[in-house]
Amino acid sequence: MSCGSCENPYLPKVVTIEKINIENEAKDIKTFDLVFCSKEDEESFNFNCGQFGMLSVPGAGESPIGIASSPLDKGYLQFSVKCYDTGVVTTALHSLEEGARMGVRGPYGNTYPMEEMKGKNVVTGSGGFAFTTLRSTIRYMLHEKNRAQYKDITVVYGARSPGELIYKDELKEWEAKNDINMNVTVDKGDEGWTGREGFVPTVLQEVAPSSKNAIVLVCGPPIMLKFTMPPLLELGFTPENIITSLERRMSCGIGKCGRCNVGSKYVCKDGPVFSYKEIQELPGNSL
Ligand SMILES: Cc1cc2nc3c(=O)[nH]c(=O)nc-3n(C[C@H](O)[C@H](O)[C@H](O)COP(=O)(O)OP(=O)(O)OC[C@H]3O[C@@H](n4cnc5c(N)ncnc54)[C@H](O)[C@@H]3O)c2cc1C
Ligand code: FES
Repeated sequence: MSCGSCENPYLPKVVTIEKINIENEAKDIKTFDLVFCSKEDEESFNFNCGQFGMLSVPGAGESPIGIASSPLDKGYLQFSVKCYDTGVVTTALHSLEEGARMGVRGPYGNTYPMEEMKGKNVVTGSGGFAFTTLRSTIRYMLHEKNRAQYKDITVVYGARSPGELIYKDELKEWEAKNDINMNVTVDKGDEGWTGREGFVPTVLQEVAPSSKNAIVLVCGPPIMLKFTMPPLLELGFTPENIITSLERRMSCGIGKCGRCNVGSKYVCKDGPVFSYKEIQELPGNSL
């Protein structure tokens, strides 16, 4: 008989990389489809939108990475990882090939307020590869089982250039649908680009989604978040209804080591999802 509370929480579950998709022109963002080697491990990994996993590569270490697949995608987990030139774990991850084995711990952290969002209009604003957990959320809301529970869905997603947009095929699929308002933008287009140009905060201002009965989820680099808050407040979104996800260096991922704390909050356990109101109450410039 196994004893759940005796399990070592730092022990990763073994997964196989089933598929790797290179997402962008710079080839430094890859999506990994991971399949658990044990059915029991797969069944015990129940997550919700906004949570993250600790991905590990033997000999390199572990990194927290947001879960990019939807909780309703069964049989695999997806993580989209940007590789940094000097990044130990992300470089090791990017050197792995399909069929390789690696580790996952989790799911960790809190979630986007999926229950509270029911019956409401949902707006997402995102820049760069931080789109991953919002992609999970959009897939979840668009699922035929769930779509009726959410009202209008407005997506503003931007990248530096057309080649840096991730999930390109899925973006096209969503743009062809009539139950989601897609606004994909790039800072600067190229010859073939016929879409929108402009930074995410400006495009949010132009699209001007109603703040009435609405919740907005925003994820992106700190500079984007800084410039996104004023237009959202001007549109009438309250700090309670602006939800974001914080990124901090982590070690344990489970509120034990103190590596990720901001004031009295542990980003790994109390977050990574916080409302703008909660962030305003944290010490320093927490975005
Ligand atoms: C909750 C959470 C969710 C996350 N989700 C994702 C995700 O979905 N996809 C993803 O790619 N990353 C995500 N991250 C960031 C990711 O955890 C780090 O990029 C990763 O841990 C870097 O590990 P490393 O060992 O490669 O880099 P390290 O060896 O630890 O760092 C080496 C150098 O890489 C650069 N670097 C590392 N991390 C960052 C960063 N975040 N921003 C800018 N420069 C950096 C710095 O120059 C740093 O000095 C998330 C982080 C958190 C906390
Ligand atoms: S990473 Fe250890 S307490 Fe958050």
